[in-house]
Amino acid sequence: MTKKDVKTNLLNHSEAKVRLLGEYLKKYLNIICNDGYTKRIKIYDLFCGEGLYENGGEGSPLVTMRQVKDIHFLNVAKFSSIPKIDCHFNDIEERKVKKVEQSLKDKSLYYPEIGDLQFSTEDYQVQYENLLAQLPKLKKLNQKAFIFIDPYEYKHIKASQIKNLMSKGNSEVLLWLPTQFMYRFASNGTPEALKDFITEIIPNFNEWRPGNVWNFISELKQGFQNFLGSSFFVDTFTIQKDTNTVFCLFFFTSHIKGFEKMLEAKWEIDTEYGKGWDYAGNTLSLFHEYKTNPLETKLKEYLKEKKRYNGEVYEFTLRQGFLPKHTNEIFYNWRNDGKLSVTKSDGTEVKNKKHTYLGYKYYRVEFQKAQFKLK
Ligand SMILES: C[S@@+](CC[C@H](N)C(=O)[O-])C[C@H]1O[C@@H](n2cnc3c(N)ncnc32)[C@H](O)[C@@H]1O
Repeated sequence: MTKKDVKTNLLNHSEAKVRLLGEYLKKYLNIICNDGYTKRIKIYDLFCGEGLYENGGEGSPLVTMRQVKDIHFLNVAKFSSIPKIDCHFNDIEERKVKKVEQSLKDKSLYYPEIGDLQFSTEDYQVQYENLLAQLPKLKKLNQKAFIFIDPYEYKHIKASQIKNLMSKGNSEVLLWLPTQFMYRFASNGTPEALKDFITEIIPNFNEWRPGNVWNFISELKQGFQNFLGSSFFVDTFTIQKDTNTVFCLFFFTSHIKGFEKMLEAKWEIDTEYGKGWDYAGNTLSLFHEYKTNPLETKLKEYLKEKKRYNGEVYEFTLRQGFLPKHTNEIFYNWRNDGKLSVTKSDGTEVKNKKHTYLGYKYYRVEFQKAQFKLK
């Protein structure tokens, strides 16, 4: 495959990337448009590319506008007032931005009543600075931002920039990193830009030996989590192009419900592990029945330490990259085997083995409704 192919055709791994973007936006917009609080949503695609590829594949601007248009017309039919959704597409190459503009027109994906549509051809750094200045204002006006950062190379990005974007306002960030190249370089003559990037999140970089690209990604995720602190949530979605090439999307949010929606989108795409998209597709493996094993091990360790409340287990489950339904499945088995007791705050046992109270609703208002204890 030539370099030209990669840049002018939307290839399968990029398709998986924009599919996740689209699935997530669908869920995100659905919640935010109906939360009764948000007045306006702003989507920023800072490395938007050309929109329509030579092979007809649709890049992030078209995938985004399609979701935005769908949710707008769905909501218009149902509600009297809905938040406007503004979209801003930026790429340093003017030719590409013009092409995005044209494709949105040709495909009738934009209507002025949806919100403002903006295009720019600036360097990411300039856009980043503008955004930093703008985000606190959005917060005051009950507006939310979703920022998609999709560079070819890591050299444009710094972890501290993500941290700044996250801490300045009501924002979520989806970041695409060429983790395979980073891993290869990190283990073999690290370029300065990569060293700078990694050192911010892995302070002991000089002694760091992740061993393989999967550990590299999982330790980067943990590094990001430590760097951002516990009020933020981080998850990854890995996309394997071939045996030697793994890319990864990093997702950052401060809102646990948004985080759960992202995980749902991820699990929908890869129902088997939720930990990656396989180039060969979503065929079930021989080990399908063991799919929740890693979570089971983690839950055992977590509950071994002490009794835990439903709110704690809900958050723990999500932070491991799993959904409450997975923990429910494990708990149901444990309860049938007499390995787990579930009690209410007054000490009485919860009789129905399917009741665990693991959900956002309980997390918000009944964090301590039930307690779990390993027997
Ligand atoms: C991976 S592509 C984006 C693909 C696009 N998001 C999609 O889904 O089709 C990266 C883009 O970043 C643009 N780019 C490169 N350097 C940039 C910079 N410093 N600032 C903004 N954009 C840049 C390139 O022109 C390229 O279109």
